[in-house]
Amino acid sequence: MKELQTLTDRISKARRLTILTGAGLSAASGVPTFRAQDGLWRQYRPEDLATPEAFARDPSVVWEWYAWRRGKIAACKPNTAHHVVAAWSQMPGCRVITQNVDDLHVRAGTRDLLRMHGSIWELSCFERCPAGVQSWRDERVPLPDMPPRCPHCGGLARPAVVWFGESLRAGDVEAAAQAAACDVFLTIGTSAVVYPAAGLVHEARRQGAFTAEVNLEETAASSMVDLAIQGGAEQILPLLYSFPIA
Ligand code: APR
Repeated sequence: MKELQTLTDRISKARRLTILTGAGLSAASGVPTFRAQDGLWRQYRPEDLATPEAFARDPSVVWEWYAWRRGKIAACKPNTAHHVVAAWSQMPGCRVITQNVDDLHVRAGTRDLLRMHGSIWELSCFERCPAGVQSWRDERVPLPDMPPRCPHCGGLARPAVVWFGESLRAGDVEAAAQAAACDVFLTIGTSAVVYPAAGLVHEARRQGAFTAEVNLEETAASSMVDLAIQGGAEQILPLLYSFPIA
């Protein structure tokens, strides 16, 4: 396919390659997406499970749901798409930004990963006590205490993910905006509807980058990128990856 060759050439020649990933990148690993037919937001209401208000209302229900997701993700492995992104991340000038909280990029060895929405394997203090604001990692499945407690103040601990209605860490938004200044901006497996992540491809385009999308289906960004390739990331990415010339 000519498009594949065009994008392979652009990526291999890029001095600054920026990659944005979404739930679609982990779909082939068995991690549910959010907005597909069988997506999480088709079965559950985000306002009941992924907002600070929902947590304040009923922390046990929210933790039950995150515990279920942690159990599911713990059984998943990075797929070929994660491994290709990890290989690209070793290239100088490559930045990888993800909206995913599953850390499969981390397990695939991705260098210098920017996790915009946090990690499902990290917790922080819901009461925001001084010591508990900084998140801590806890990969135990199941978590021994439900709901888990802050080890510093004994208050409620929460998943260290960004919920609807919450701001991202200022440093992350800035770093993501800087990464939009690139030669090639590749967006993979995201429906491109959640901001600020969905704004990055527009910013990259505004700054003169060649923009491309890999997705199973059309998205809100498909009509504005230079090149949109439809297909599974786990099939398409290996075709785009050309092993570096020694
Ligand atoms: N390969 C490529 N794309 C895929 C694949 C696949 N194998 N499977 C699904 N997709 C695409 C879908 O077509 C869809 O466009 O991945 C996209 C997933 O979109 P969403 O479920 O909306 O997930 P995402 O865009 O990552 O959501 C953004 O919303 O719910 C919040 O915080 C949550 O980070 C999340 C954010």
